[in-house]
Amino acid sequence: MSQARITIDRDFTIADVPRRLFGSFVEHMGRCVYTGIYEPGHPQADERGFRRDVLALVREMGPTVIRYPGGNFVSGYNWEDGVGPVADRPVRMDGAWHTIETNAFGLHEFVDWAREAEVEVMEAVNLGTRGMDEARALVEYANHPGGTYWSDLRRRNGAADPFDIKLWCLGNELDGPWQIGGKTAQEYGRLAQETAKAMKLVDPSIELVTVGSSNRQMPTFGSWEHTVLTHAYDEVDYISMHAYYQEHDGDTESFLADAVDMDAFIDGVIATIDAVKAAGKHTKQVNISFDEWNVWDQHKYNSVEADEIEAAGWKQHPRLIEDTYSVTDAVVVGTLLNSLLRHGDRVKIANQAQLVNVIAPIRSEEGGPAWRQTSFWPFERMARLAKGRVLRLAVNATQISTKRYGDVDAVDAAATWDEETGRVVVFVANRSLESPNDLTLDLRGFGELRVAAAETLTIPDGGDRLTANLETAPDRVGMVALAGVEVVDGVVRATLPPVSWSVIELA
Ligand code: AHR
Repeated sequence: MSQARITIDRDFTIADVPRRLFGSFVEHMGRCVYTGIYEPGHPQADERGFRRDVLALVREMGPTVIRYPGGNFVSGYNWEDGVGPVADRPVRMDGAWHTIETNAFGLHEFVDWAREAEVEVMEAVNLGTRGMDEARALVEYANHPGGTYWSDLRRRNGAADPFDIKLWCLGNELDGPWQIGGKTAQEYGRLAQETAKAMKLVDPSIELVTVGSSNRQMPTFGSWEHTVLTHAYDEVDYISMHAYYQEHDGDTESFLADAVDMDAFIDGVIATIDAVKAAGKHTKQVNISFDEWNVWDQHKYNSVEADEIEAAGWKQHPRLIEDTYSVTDAVVVGTLLNSLLRHGDRVKIANQAQLVNVIAPIRSEEGGPAWRQTSFWPFERMARLAKGRVLRLAVNATQISTKRYGDVDAVDAAATWDEETGRVVVFVANRSLESPNDLTLDLRGFGELRVAAAETLTIPDGGDRLTANLETAPDRVGMVALAGVEVVDGVVRATLPPVSWSVIELA
């Protein structure tokens, strides 16, 4: 049995829980929009074509903000194609995903859907094939009340009131050679600066996210952030981060420790932001929008799927990267959420990519059912329970040896404290493949606490670490009671099963 002692003190807090950490992402990619959130003719569709079964699962999962419409897609997208009478909208070739885009779903539909889903809209502009003028036109279209060309067009298209979109991304992954209209850091930094200025002249209340590195392995990582922020620090509010994790060559130990990489990646970007801030004598603080993160088996995409898509020719909404998530994947997702929460002082927005079907916690079939993947559960629990302040934890744990990260703690944890309700919630993973973990929580300064609830996501009876939720067996993996959690002499004791992510609520 491995062991861990976590000391939690009410005086050691990091930040208010940034509620935008529980964001998601809807891209015009594969079946995320078409047959995902939108499927006219489906038995569950409402009069606008929104799938009610999918909407119910989205509301249950509880994302607070959703990035739209891409992703790689946005770098070749004309937003004007997606507004106005549907019959008049052009059918286009989307080069990013080798797909036919009908434009039946666009900005108005997404804003309506987001209202139904009770989420904030985070809109990305195209800085791949387009530029400042289209970006500022879109802000005017979306946010200006009326009396100008673009705002009156919105009104004629059926939306009398402005959409009032506060959060905007200045393009997507423009450091990547795969990106349509990719750029050098110098080219992008100047474009981002001037586009930000033009957009804020239309609506000074908006918040802007500049593009950071597409991942930590990019050869330009670090220098990209430095150059871009040197140009645009004063004009932007956040810099983006993207990271996808997967198991490499059967090395499950390292996969379960990937939050170590996420922690280091975030710390590196914070250091770069602050170096630019210091050198430029800026007073305002730029923070981080981690607007794409998840587990994604990119081996499969790169070795099989991308070729299959091209070979199949141009089609509408092909099946693309519809990964099926296992118990292990969900535990890793839980640890990535822990990492984001631990950095709540600087990571203010995060978007799990994506929401439905495309590497998603929710799956749906055309004309068929919708169901929750294993990865739905850590997101749902943390989005619902992480309230108040993020706590700074002192973790003392048995070490596990990994190929990629050396020795790492056997547990990975984050916690929040809601002063109003008095609730402390601890989110804790046991990364070990075989050993249960004997966990002690030493909570100081909170007074008498009792265990209000304790649940875990782990290997189900009769299953293994690869067990998944499938269309035919949608409920094999979920949150189940974690037995035996008790308070002994003022400390909380629990036994965490191997490969598990648990939530302990103390009242
Ligand atoms: O989420 C899938 C894709 O991953 C996005 O379109 C892109 O931004 C990233 O490379």
